[in-house]
Amino acid sequence: IPTPIIAPSILSADFARLGAECSETIERHGADWLHIDIMDGHFVPNITFGAPVVTAIRSHVERPSNKKGRGTFDCHLMVAEPKRWVKDFQAAGCDLYCFHYEAAINSTAAGSPAGTTDRRTSPRELIRFIHEHSMQAGIALKPETPVDVLWEILENEVEEERPDMVLIMTVNPGFGGQTFMASELPKVRAVRDRYPTLDIEVDGGLGPKTIGQAADAGANVIVAGSAVFGAQDPGEVIRGLREVLVG
Ligand code: DX5
Ligand code: ZN
Repeated sequence: IPTPIIAPSILSADFARLGAECSETIERHGADWLHIDIMDGHFVPNITFGAPVVTAIRSHVERPSNKKGRGTFDCHLMVAEPKRWVKDFQAAGCDLYCFHYEAAINSTAAGSPAGTTDRRTSPRELIRFIHEHSMQAGIALKPETPVDVLWEILENEVEEERPDMVLIMTVNPGFGGQTFMASELPKVRAVRDRYPTLDIEVDGGLGPKTIGQAADAGANVIVAGSAVFGAQDPGEVIRGLREVLVG
């Protein structure tokens, strides 16, 4: 069984004191990773922030010494042109670059800004490109996307073209604080049945009430935004989530 990982989403942090919120979440409250939601207003109907903000918070959180250690920056790119931002995020100190399958295969239709050259990007090429930029690669699926699209990507014999993590969204991406969709858990189970050691992340509506189902289905990387940052004692919530996850 892969390592249990709690990754608070800083989307629900206080942006006016983001550096302190990030370092406290890791150092004081005991989180493993920081989940960093990048939204471009094209792929999802909301805008958050880009690489400059990642650079700013990197100076508050020590870079992990091992591949998936504490302080890993898990960047979730909800953007129409995932290939376009790889270099910038590497430079900003991102450790794990997680793009959306739907954006990779359809970057033009998803709304490329005028004058850009990125067109359709195959997931395998993009994964290789991310690896060439010394980051781990994650691939995310929206609720509307069937899990079967993952099989040929995961079965690839070329190691550099295989993802290090799969993210199964348990809400429609775009906003924090939405209701958990248990309907997505069969996807988690299907991936876990085939890949016992792969990192499987779930994101959206996770908290003390829903983590049990996600852990049962086989998720080992838990994103939680409002449940952690909305709590009186974030450390207590993180410890509670971890207990359920460890089992
Ligand atoms: C949703 C984001 C999530 C979000 C989760 O589009 O990808 O990471 O921050 O927030 P909660 O945990 O509040 O659902
Ligand atoms: Zn996210």
